[in-house]
Amino acid sequence: MLKKFALPVIITALLCSILAGCSSAEKSSTAKAKDERPIMIQGPMPIEAEKLADRLEDVKKEKSGSFVFYIGKLDGYPVIVAKTGKGMENTAAATAVAIEKYNPAAIINQGTSGGHDTDLNVFDIVLGKRTVNLGSLKTGNLSEGGGIEPKKWIPMDLLASEGSAGEDPDAEKIRYFEGDKQLLEAANAVKDEYKTGKVVEGTIGSADVWNNEVDRINWFHDKFGTSVEEMEGAAGAQIAKAYDIPYLGIRILSNNKVNGGQYNPDTAEANQEFVYKVVNQYIKEK
Ligand code: 5AD
Repeated sequence: MLKKFALPVIITALLCSILAGCSSAEKSSTAKAKDERPIMIQGPMPIEAEKLADRLEDVKKEKSGSFVFYIGKLDGYPVIVAKTGKGMENTAAATAVAIEKYNPAAIINQGTSGGHDTDLNVFDIVLGKRTVNLGSLKTGNLSEGGGIEPKKWIPMDLLASEGSAGEDPDAEKIRYFEGDKQLLEAANAVKDEYKTGKVVEGTIGSADVWNNEVDRINWFHDKFGTSVEEMEGAAGAQIAKAYDIPYLGIRILSNNKVNGGQYNPDTAEANQEFVYKVVNQYIKEK
C-alpha cells in the first residue's frame, strides 16, 4: 500500500520544491533589480517613531509580532521607519526580522537617552561613534554572606569566543560596536542645522536598566566612557554587525541625572527632526 503511493508522492514533492525554488529565486532577483535597498530608522516608543513615519510618502504599514514597519519614501528614496518597542530584546528581534524581510542598506537607531556627562544638557544630541552593552558584566567571586560589590564587576565580551564567557579571560574586556563612518559623516555634515542644542560624537551605553544612582552613572562614565545611556542601541548594533549592515545610534538627552537636567518628552520629536536631515543627507551622498 505504502509502496504504491510512495513514487507519486516523492515526484509531486520534488516538483513542488523545484517550482517553489524557482519562483522564490525569481522573486528575490527581480526584487533586487527593481528596488534600491531601503534605509531603516528605528524608534522604540510611539513618540520616538511616529513623527518620522508621518514624514514618509506612499506609506504602507506592516507588522511582524509587535514590531510595526512604516514602509515608504523620503524624496523618492525607500525608507522604512520601525517602531520596535522599548528595550534590548525588542530591538534585537526587530532588527533581525527587518534585515531578513527588507534587506536595509543602513540602520539608524534613534530616540531619547539619559546623560552621563555633565557637559551634555537636555536637547543635546549624541552621535554614537561607539555603542556598548552596559549589561554585559561579570561579578567578582564572593561566597555566601560576602555581599554585593558592583564597583568590582568587570566587563564581559560575549562575542570574544565561542567558549564559556565566564571562564575565558579573553572575554574580560569591553565590546564596543563602532558607528558607521559614512552615516557619521552625513550626521556631522548637517549638525549645524540643529539649533536647539549641540551635536557631539560620543559613546552610547545600553541595558534594560534606568540608572538613577549618580555614583553608578559616574562609574560607567569613567570605566566605559559613556556619554549617555538608553535601552536599545547596543542590541541593534550587535545584530547589524552580525549581518554586516552599516549602523549608527543617534540619541538626544531627554534627562541628565548628573547635572540635574529634568526629563523633557519634547526631545523625542526634536531628535526625529534631526534624524530626518541626516537621512536626507545620507541619501544625497549615496
Ligand atoms: N536611562 C535609560 N533609558 C532611557 N531612555 C531615556 N532616558 C533614559 C535613561 N536615563 C529611553 C530608553 C527607553 C525608554 C525608557 O527611554 O532608551 O526606550
